[in-house]
Amino acid sequence: MKKILIVYKSKTGFTKRYVDWICEEVTCDTRTLNETKSSDIDKYDIIIYGAGIRAGFISGLKKFKKLVDINNKKVIVFATGAVAKSDDMIQPVIENNLADCKSRVGFFYFESGICYEKMGAFSRGMMRIFSKMLNAKKDKSEIDEEMSKAIMSSFDNSKKENIESLVTLLKEYYKF
Ligand SMILES: Cc1cc2nc3c(=O)[nH]c(=O)nc-3n(C[C@H](O)[C@H](O)[C@H](O)COP(=O)(O)O)c2cc1C
Repeated sequence: MKKILIVYKSKTGFTKRYVDWICEEVTCDTRTLNETKSSDIDKYDIIIYGAGIRAGFISGLKKFKKLVDINNKKVIVFATGAVAKSDDMIQPVIENNLADCKSRVGFFYFESGICYEKMGAFSRGMMRIFSKMLNAKKDKSEIDEEMSKAIMSSFDNSKKENIESLVTLLKEYYKF
């Protein structure tokens, strides 16, 4: 049986909720990014990394990439974000984050939400700047419009059914 490790970073709990849902369906060990060492990764066949998107970038992914040898491990990355899933939003996320390794890494996007109550002062400040930047943009895309409305207050669109395709891959492809 293949051994799976999920490494994750979750500031406001959305990514952690998706990690817990995945663990309900497939047997995985989990570790936060901060507590993960390269030596932990060696023991596993499949490494999944999950984190929230911040201004287009998957939080902690650079650090994760330094811990794992993408050429020798099966790596899957999932990102959680406030924007509804669509090809238009996923392509830039892949280009911004996985351009160097997209042919070797599986990618999944899970819609989540915004939780101002669990955000630190720094993140709230970032959101204010982000919101001003979006509002000041002249030719807003549909995604910009959606994002600028969404980030005005807390909301939660996370759903367990969003993990189905990842769980199917783990169960069928890897005969888990
Ligand atoms: C500063 C900041 C920037 C964000 N930027 C984006 C973004 O570019 N795209 C997006 O879809 N969501 C964005 N979000 C929403 C988060 O990605 C979303 O809440 C995520 O699920 C948080 O994960 P966590 O709760 O596990 O930390 C942003 C949130 C914060 C606080």
